[in-house]
Amino acid sequence: MSNRTSLQGMWSSRFAFILAVTGSAVGLGNIWKFPYIAGENGGGAFVLVYLLCVFGIGLPIMMSEILIGRRGRRNPVTTMALLGEEEAGTERWKLVGVMGIFGGILILSFYSVIAGWALSYTFKSGSSAFVGVSAQDIGDLFSDHLADWKSQVMWHGIFMVMTISVVARGVRNGLELAVRVLMPALLILLVALLFYSMKEGDFSGAMRFMFSPKWEALTIDGVMIALGHAFFTLSVGMGAVMAYGAYLPEDASIGSTSIAVVLADTTIAILSGLVIFPIVFANGLDPGAGPGLIFTTLPVAFGSMSGGVVFGTMFFILLSFAAWTSAIGLIEPAMAWLNERKELTRVKASLLLGGVIFFLGLLTIFSFNLLSGLQFGRGTFFDNIDFFTSSVMLPLGGFFIVVFAGWVMCRNSTSEELAIGTGLRFSTWRFLARFVAPVAILAIFANAMIEAFG
Ligand code: TRP
Repeated sequence: MSNRTSLQGMWSSRFAFILAVTGSAVGLGNIWKFPYIAGENGGGAFVLVYLLCVFGIGLPIMMSEILIGRRGRRNPVTTMALLGEEEAGTERWKLVGVMGIFGGILILSFYSVIAGWALSYTFKSGSSAFVGVSAQDIGDLFSDHLADWKSQVMWHGIFMVMTISVVARGVRNGLELAVRVLMPALLILLVALLFYSMKEGDFSGAMRFMFSPKWEALTIDGVMIALGHAFFTLSVGMGAVMAYGAYLPEDASIGSTSIAVVLADTTIAILSGLVIFPIVFANGLDPGAGPGLIFTTLPVAFGSMSGGVVFGTMFFILLSFAAWTSAIGLIEPAMAWLNERKELTRVKASLLLGGVIFFLGLLTIFSFNLLSGLQFGRGTFFDNIDFFTSSVMLPLGGFFIVVFAGWVMCRNSTSEELAIGTGLRFSTWRFLARFVAPVAILAIFANAMIEAFG
């Protein structure tokens, strides 16, 4: 067991930690991305592969991140340096932490822009902008929204202010307070929307679409997408969970805590699908509409259904809250690093990070208007940042984290930290961490490379 104490304070309980990690995990990835990619890749068959990836690869990596974080009790850079020194006599492992900090900043720069869309749509929906409007007009509304860079800059700015005003307040009074309020609210909104969808939408159509396995629709590419999404949705691979693990009380069990988070994240992803698809099918909309799905199809439905203004507004509030608790997780590694290594107060560090991320986010905003013609690599700036972070940085970070926990750390250190004995449960984790996860990640990574350069 580590004798270091966290410099940022601690979660008040194991439950608070579960809420915080679940808050980081549940985000745009669950509510927007999962239903759509599940639909496109064979529904039930894809869901099954996704569950395998989440439990076989995501779960052991999450356990590795938490155990490393708690043992080091510092920001991910210092933690990796300390443990690298202890376990392998080299500080070089800190590069994993450095990459995580940059990854979090880059992801948040576009994540915040999309979250800004959700905020903006909350107000559009609340002011009845969708009522009695045709699908064509809703599409135009979205195009106008994308073209209006000034409004996007404003909403992105507002979302960044919301994010840093939480993280500036520290672990207990900021992060923990936010998730204690927002996570129950999120659950209530989700359940209310679920009842609405069951009543107003085509629920059985949605069930069939998501759970009847169409094996022929599942491709190798679909398997790769399921793998990549397992990282993104669980927030693993960039030290976010490691940073949160540094504040976890010593007596909390890492294994059962991780299982709780993974179950919660998966349940919410599936429930989101069961909210969105009944409405999509009842209105004859296209389930494979892609990035525009929730912004161009759902408003059509909300605009024409009874109670649509209230429930539409609730939907976008749900999306904004989910993004908010994820944004906090994306920024915390950098925050802790600036605080511990550069001796900036959390307030100063938030202002600095908030400013940097705000300006980086402009590249994403301009990708949809002023600079939409500037194409390179995967497409616009946004396409490149999205691809580079999700498909390169997360798998690479996850690979090094799990290799560190499985191969570099000695068996005793990990079994002591996990505290699940040395029997079957420990051996299972170790087998997944040493063999299954690294090999699977290399497979995703190879695929991403082939797609990029092949
Ligand atoms: N998990 C979040 C989602 O599904 C995104 C996210 C938050 C994330 N923190 C992260 C992704 C850290 C990778 C790493 O929307």
